[in-house]
Amino acid sequence: MPRSQRLSRLPSTELAAPLLAWFARARRDLPWREEPRDPYRVWVSEVMLQQTRVEVVVPYFERFTARFPTLRALARAPLDEVLAQWSGLGYYARARNLHRAAQAAGGALPGTAAELAALPGFGPYTSAAVASLAFGEEVPLVDGNVARVLARLLRLPGDPAQARALAWKAAPSLLPRGRAGEFNEALMELGALVCTPRSPKCGDCPIGAQCQAKKHGDPEKFPGPKKKKPRPQLTWAAAAIFRGGAVLLARRGKGELFEGMWDLPSQPVAGVPLSKQRDWGARKDRPRDPHPAALAAAQAAALGCGLRARLEQVGEVNQTLTHRELRVLLFRAKGRGAKPSAAPARAARTPVPAQARTPIARELRWVRAEELAQLGLSSLARKSLRACGVDTWSHGSKVRPSPS
Ligand code: ADE
Repeated sequence: MPRSQRLSRLPSTELAAPLLAWFARARRDLPWREEPRDPYRVWVSEVMLQQTRVEVVVPYFERFTARFPTLRALARAPLDEVLAQWSGLGYYARARNLHRAAQAAGGALPGTAAELAALPGFGPYTSAAVASLAFGEEVPLVDGNVARVLARLLRLPGDPAQARALAWKAAPSLLPRGRAGEFNEALMELGALVCTPRSPKCGDCPIGAQCQAKKHGDPEKFPGPKKKKPRPQLTWAAAAIFRGGAVLLARRGKGELFEGMWDLPSQPVAGVPLSKQRDWGARKDRPRDPHPAALAAAQAAALGCGLRARLEQVGEVNQTLTHRELRVLLFRAKGRGAKPSAAPARAARTPVPAQARTPIARELRWVRAEELAQLGLSSLARKSLRACGVDTWSHGSKVRPSPS
């Protein structure tokens, strides 16, 4: 039977009534679900929830909306502060787009998915989520959880991406009249709590009676497995240079990974297989690129800081991103010269002379311990700093290299 016929034989109320009754009982009390719904808070939560679990999002959401309680407050804030609030959540383009969209929205979010879709960072999912949850527009949505629920309910074939595309086609016919937002959120909640990727709790499912995969006893086969693509591996070398209680940080440039975030000055290590990149400094077959430590030293010199000793390799940190494996080789040295100024962060920022600029470090600054918690640092940067002996979260901690 063609899929469209199968779908049209499932009256939307048959699904909606038990699902909505279950949602009324089982829904989690989450900070963005307070009634009446604030479109701004719904939007921020939906952006944070893309690629990030609810438990991780909740404290970020609380801090972010305390710091930027309204769309206008977010639009007025410097991007640096927005990135600092996002620090550790990952996928920093989300924060940059959030900030751009707040500025483009002109005081209030529009109320339809079509208008929302014109704002930066609003894809089909985010537009439909804000329009249906906050404004009650009757539009369907599909995220990863909903795609899985519908893939099982309707035994949609294909890998997760193919099943998701089919779920978008199927979703409009399932939407109940007048309760689209609740229905959409209930489907997401069902995917999060009952129709989980592994070991779904089919015995507790309010729409189990309609579920084709449950009937066939094979829910875990839907959606089909993801085709594994190898992730390219990147290696960077980064240098931690310390001087008078501060560490030298660089801001990542436009178009780079972690754009706009602060990190140790670093340099891609090109053309060397991973297996040969250990003990970088000691190898005869190291690449012809300048040694990353030399670059960091040049940048430090541009700030009036020579190095007291050669940079020593202190280890490495690794991070798996969605499309890449990153490995950072860490070097460390103490700087020479006057103590960096104790002036506030902004005043301490120093432009780098052209000759010391590298493709990766366009803006450098000496950062003191107490500033680190307020800076837009990626988790990788925090990990790297920790490996070099710097605690990046607690105030009152010292920026110091461990004894060498
Ligand atoms: N995932 C994304 N948005 C969600 C929401 N509003 N409720 C539950 N899970 C979600």
